Parts: sequence; structure tokens; C-alpha cells
Amino acid sequence: MWNYPKFLAHRGGGKLAPENTIAGLRCGLNHGFRAVEFDVMLARDGVPVVMHDPYLGRTVAGAGNVFDYDAAELVTMDAGNWFSAQFKGETVPLFTQFVQFCKDHGIWMNIEIKPAPGFEEETGRVVAKLTRVLFGPDIASDDPRRIPLLSSFSPLALAAAMQAAPDLPRALLLDRLDDGWQAQARAVAAVAIHTSHKHLTEVLAQQVKAAGYGLFCYTVNDPARAREILGWGVDAFCTDRIDLIGADFA
Ligand code: G3P
Ligand code: MG
Repeated sequence: MWNYPKFLAHRGGGKLAPENTIAGLRCGLNHGFRAVEFDVMLARDGVPVVMHDPYLGRTVAGAGNVFDYDAAELVTMDAGNWFSAQFKGETVPLFTQFVQFCKDHGIWMNIEIKPAPGFEEETGRVVAKLTRVLFGPDIASDDPRRIPLLSSFSPLALAAAMQAAPDLPRALLLDRLDDGWQAQARAVAAVAIHTSHKHLTEVLAQQVKAAGYGLFCYTVNDPARAREILGWGVDAFCTDRIDLIGADFA
């Protein structure tokens, strides 16, 4: 069952803005998106920040690992210049700052817990606990669009999230649906399966739906492919091409 938005901007603003930045969220908003997927991991001091890679150098100017720095240091680092000079000065967002921006602008959130290796349980626990605090009364709401969806490739992170905040919905991220996916989903009481559209088939999509899970795909950038998988019963997907696949895509 999927009660959430259908089209999400991947990593904030897809490929039109530096990933996992507030500028990306603004870009998504400008393209009509009111739903977003983004990645969260822990800084050295255990404060969650919005980043995809566990190391610096690709999107964030600097060297070393994210866990080598406190959040206060990370938030001063440039996360926009790699994309283009126009975004120079855009910095690594704190998770709390990112969530606040989304709340202020009515953006629904799929929070991907992205632990650095060795930090799976801690990251799942900290992100779930903080999310629970940030959303407080929303969790009791009967409007699912006020409640974020946690997801992760890490079963350990999801299990820790389940223990820390059992009433927050969780989705299991799988690159492909191999035998045993149902047992993994059950173990973390997942409400949805998030998987790469590249390995999905119509038969697999039907199996997921028949088992009662929501089905979400990443990262769908071709409108024809988007129509095909929606025809198979896929409930939702995220896209980098927020220019091609609009929030009102049909
Ligand atoms: O959450 C879906 C998707 O973002 C997973 O892959 O590497 O872009 O985080 P990645
Ligand atoms: Mg992600």
C-alpha cells in the first residue's frame, strides 16, 4: 500500500542542481515538485548531515571521510561549486535544516539513511530518533503526507530505526529483488520496497504488490520507461530529470 506522492525529485533537485543541497530543493520547487528523496549520514559528533558519499571530494570540497569532521565543520564546506560556479557557496545542510526547509515548503520527504560502513546501527537509531522528534504530532496524523518515509539499503540501520521509532514507516531499499526479499522486508516491518527500475520486471512488480507492499523505483529518467513501470503497478519513483518528468507527469 502506498499513500505517498508518486513523483519525487532525487537527491533534492535531480540533475539540475547540486545534489542534497537547499539549492536543489529550491530547484525542485521551481519545477513543481512537492516530494523529495535525500540521503543522510552522521558527522563525527553524531549529528546527521545531508550527504550521499561517505567521503569528501566528489560533491564537497575537501578530503577524507564525513566521519572525520564534526557537523559544524561540514556545514562550512562548499557543496555547490563542483556542479557549477553558479552554486559556489552552497554548503552541506544539516539534516534538521533540510527537514525544516521541506516542512516550511510543504515538501514530502523520503529520508534515505545512508550509513558510512561500520556506522549502520548508530545512523539508523540517531536519524530515526531525531526524525521522530522533528515530526512530533505529525506522526499521529491520519494524513500520510505529513509523515516522512525512512528507507535504507542497510537492514541493520532499518532494524535500529525500528527499535528507536517504531511508529515511523520504513522502506527496504534493494538494488534487485533476489530470493529472500520478503523475509528481509518482514524483518524490518517495511511498508514498501524501493528498488532499481533497471532490474525490475512486470512479474516481480506484481509479486511485490500482491504481497501488500508499496513499490517505489529509483532513478527513472526516461519518460517512456516511467510509463512502462507505472503500467506494471509501480506506485512511485524518483527522478533526476525533473525537467522531463514533471511533478504532474501522467
Ligand atoms: O533512495 C533511492 C536512491 O537514492 C538510492 O540510490 O545511490 O542515489 O542513494 P542513491
Ligand atoms: Mg538516495
